[in-house]
Amino acid sequence: MIEYRNLRIAVLGAGSVGAQVAALLLQHADELAGRVGAGLELVGIAVRDLDAPRTADIPRELLTTDARSLILGADIVIEVMGGLEPAREYLELALTSGADVITANKALLATHGPELFAIAEQVGAQLYYEAAVGGAIPIIRPLRDSLAGDRVHRILGIVNGTTNYILDRMDQGGDSLEQALAVATELGYAEADPTADIEGFDAAQKAAILASLAFHTAVPVDGVHREGITGVTREQVAAAQRSGFVVKLLAVCERLVDPETGADGVSARVHPALIPTTHPLAAVHGANNAVFVEAEAAGSLMFYGAGAGGVQTASAVLGDLVSAARRHVVGGPGVAESTHADLPILPITSVTTRYQITLSVLDRPGVLAQIASVFSEHDVSVEAVQQSVVDPAADGQDGNAPGATLVIGTHRATEAALAATVAALADSPVVARVDSVLRVEGL
Ligand code: NDP
Ligand code: HSE
Repeated sequence: MIEYRNLRIAVLGAGSVGAQVAALLLQHADELAGRVGAGLELVGIAVRDLDAPRTADIPRELLTTDARSLILGADIVIEVMGGLEPAREYLELALTSGADVITANKALLATHGPELFAIAEQVGAQLYYEAAVGGAIPIIRPLRDSLAGDRVHRILGIVNGTTNYILDRMDQGGDSLEQALAVATELGYAEADPTADIEGFDAAQKAAILASLAFHTAVPVDGVHREGITGVTREQVAAAQRSGFVVKLLAVCERLVDPETGADGVSARVHPALIPTTHPLAAVHGANNAVFVEAEAAGSLMFYGAGAGGVQTASAVLGDLVSAARRHVVGGPGVAESTHADLPILPITSVTTRYQITLSVLDRPGVLAQIASVFSEHDVSVEAVQQSVVDPAADGQDGNAPGATLVIGTHRATEAALAATVAALADSPVVARVDSVLRVEGL
């Protein structure tokens, strides 16, 4: 039997994920070597501050602030630092100096993915990124490999653990957004700047990665429509619960027909949405993620599990490490990204979905008819209306105070028609306030 030399592994970052990757790599070195057919030697871990506290037991002598020298001496570089620079520069250095690369950095891939994949292809190296979407959940390989022979139509996913954790806590009647975010940060789920989580940037980066893989088209992150959860109130969450829904931050990637040209295109969007409590995504609690994939031949598939967390994410990173290391041992080509379809990226106005609109209205005769006519003038079909009197004291008064709440559910309508309807409702003399507009998915 051929004895292979040890492969030299460099880890960039020893935070929530990096410290766990290093600790597991050291702890399971013998077992991993058996799976790979060569030893995996952790030669160093690049950090900014040698004395910062670590969440796992890692030998201090492995820490270094000289990332470049570490990279130049490595066969495989694992980037778990986060951020765009110097992560981009380091990965480029690693690839051009002959190393394979593993990253968990979705911000980097969604921004500089195409140039990094091009370098990897040019030099015949591998660039793996299973941990960049869905934490521990295997979703990149299934889309890239297992479903490569099928035609994906739609992806509906909860892809940010922090926001799912926050919305879940709000749904259970407990914390405010700020309180739940503090706990999510403490548990290592949130990004270094948690604005990335709550404003939907992190989910948009993941949506760009998923849509690119699923539709064989380079989808840039600025082609993803993005809305975060900072506008979601406890009242909305409670109202959703009363009407049989939960609020989730969703990533929706779809193959669509462009209403302008009739040609195929793709759309990717991230926003809070109402999901019926009977839908499997409604049962995704805490920092878990789930990705629903609808494909032509395979039908519906659901991938579920821990979407964030240091040790959970380390599992996906180490899976990539074993794949990359095996190729070092047995040889073979690098992994090429497929963007052959090159479909146009359609704007949010091309999307059709259902909506739930909550209005505070005057409680007097004829109001419902006036509101119904606004919907019909904009070609938006109403499916259901629920009315509740919110201020019985207003009954019999001058009729100009908001005395009732209307919750209106629509059939499918385009974003453009819905936006025009909401603008007209806001201007209507019988509407005191548009309280909320939420898309409804999963019906
Ligand atoms: P942390 O902020 O916890 O850790 C970042 C680490 O990188 C720290 O050890 C830091 O060093 C080091 N670092 C940062 N900048 C530099 C630099 N310029 N030079 C050398 N070292 C540097 O991040 P996470 O572990 O949470 O996340 C890492 C990556 O994994 C990110 O891309 C994130 O999006 C992704 N990810 C995270 C998940 C999670 O649940 N946390 C899940 C999936 C992906 P020091 O400690 O000295 O400051
Ligand atoms: N901050 C991210 C999340 C980490 O909460 O989902 C996992 O990518």
